[in-house]
Amino acid sequence: MEIGYINGEFVSLNEKVIPIDERGHQFGDGVYEVIRIYDGKPFMMEEHLERLINSAKAIRLPITESVDDFKSLIMKAVEKSELHNCNVYLQITRGIATRQHLFPNVPASISMTVREANPLSDEMRNTGVTAITHEDERWANCYIKSLNLLPNILAKQVAHEAGCFEAILVRDGYVTEGTSSNMFIVKNGAVYTTPLSKHILPGITRIAVKEIANPLQINFYEEHFTEDQLMSAEEIFMTSTTAEVLPIVRVNDKPIGHGVPGEVTKKLYEQFKRKVETL
Ligand SMILES: Cc1ncc(COP(=O)(O)O)c(C=O)c1O
Repeated sequence: MEIGYINGEFVSLNEKVIPIDERGHQFGDGVYEVIRIYDGKPFMMEEHLERLINSAKAIRLPITESVDDFKSLIMKAVEKSELHNCNVYLQITRGIATRQHLFPNVPASISMTVREANPLSDEMRNTGVTAITHEDERWANCYIKSLNLLPNILAKQVAHEAGCFEAILVRDGYVTEGTSSNMFIVKNGAVYTTPLSKHILPGITRIAVKEIANPLQINFYEEHFTEDQLMSAEEIFMTSTTAEVLPIVRVNDKPIGHGVPGEVTKKLYEQFKRKVETL
């Protein structure tokens, strides 16, 4: 059963539990994570929780919970849900206080949802998805997994209205990442992805792909690439916790490479699945 959690209590997902003065709701003043559970086992949970704690630190949100505390909370929620393949979203906000910008002196709020994972269709995986490019209109601290997702939402909606799955964000002529994914191109058989900086989220699936590339003898470079280099790539793929490793075969209505998922992307996805199977 899909379930929710808020500040110590498990609740049903349609219960009305967010008070009007909750700062996540009023300001987007909080951070979050999403962790995928495969067959009852979490995927790279420690890395997700370390990023969560880093995000909280970056917005000066004091939390008393450790990685282990979050781990047990998440696994308790997963057990309670009795779901084996699910996504856990965990939000931490600066709490509930009369509306004003300054930090209130109240405890942080922790909430969670556990929902059935909705894997992408085989068709999307086999034929690949399409994307547009879009100006990266976000702020300067995209390494924080903040609840403020407005520019991401707006760009993704533009992509959707163009019949595409993702918007590839471009800042000063260079690709940063997707609205909810990291971005990779293949050139001369090697993989290139945007280096970590304040302008992108340090994706956990990105770490997994970097690890996987090595035993497959695929060279992996963290280097900036332009929109032109994107368009002339042999292959493009995106990664995220929910999309895993997903080929992008057309951008702005133009085919990438042969317009079908490429061999390097396929190999990385197969190896990613193997990593999941051995959890
Ligand atoms: C902006 C952005 N970049 C990258 C990612 C991919 O991160 P991860 O692989 O940790 O899910 C996400 C995931 O939601 C995201 O929102």
